[in-house]
Amino acid sequence: MRRTLREILECGNARPFRRYYRWVASKVEQEARQGKFRKIAELGAGTALVTRLLAKEMRQGDLVALIPCDMYPDVDAYRRLERTYPGLVAPIFAPIDFSRPYAWESDTLLLLSGTFHHVLPAARLSTLEALISSGRRIVICEPLQYHWSSLGYVLLSIVPALLLPLMFMGRPGRLTRILWCWLIPVAPLMLGWDGWVSCLRQWDAREWQAAAARLGLTMRSFEARTFSYCLVLEKR
Ligand SMILES: C[S@@+](CC[C@H](N)C(=O)[O-])C[C@H]1O[C@@H](n2cnc3c(N)ncnc32)[C@H](O)[C@@H]1O
Repeated sequence: MRRTLREILECGNARPFRRYYRWVASKVEQEARQGKFRKIAELGAGTALVTRLLAKEMRQGDLVALIPCDMYPDVDAYRRLERTYPGLVAPIFAPIDFSRPYAWESDTLLLLSGTFHHVLPAARLSTLEALISSGRRIVICEPLQYHWSSLGYVLLSIVPALLLPLMFMGRPGRLTRILWCWLIPVAPLMLGWDGWVSCLRQWDAREWQAAAARLGLTMRSFEARTFSYCLVLEKR
């Protein structure tokens, strides 16, 4: 079930429905280039979609490593990426909890996509502290905002959820997808519910500014689109 939910997310946030992951990949690539980072760690990576896009488009010599990791690592997805991009994608197969400090090398840019809203409000400042003590720059992107347009958009997520078994026909796990999306269609319902909760849990620009000020961080940028947003935090 966890895999099916991640796949619906992947399907709904990528072409032909949205270009969220492409936007995140271009943001993170730009930040890596500007800050001369040689490694990008995708935290809470799920199926590691951003890593996949970056690996596909990376010119040789640009980076030395793309490192997907998660509290619940998707070992199969990581293995496929490692096989397809040997020497470039170097997943961490052990669980990594980004709310705890981790000794990333100093040339590692940290990326969190669609995952910071999972942190409960009371733990957000300490999580940001742990992150910034682990890496000097963090890119945080979310596919949804605390806004009525995002709440409305979530209703439409039923479409990719119902199309998933057809759109991912070529991938292993066909029967599981047919089971949770068509025969006992709890995955679309769970994703809709989760989407609404995700919107309601999002911080807005003012709350991000306040958190950055409180922790003495520089907010290098904050960019919002119709449904999604991306910000970059850095140590002062
Ligand atoms: C909604 S999925 C997003 C997956 C992917 N980043 C994306 O953009 O499609 C959230 C992911 O965050 C992971 N996660 C949640 N809390 C975490 C934590 N404290 N440390 C590491 N991963 C976490 C979950 O296991 C899940 O894979």
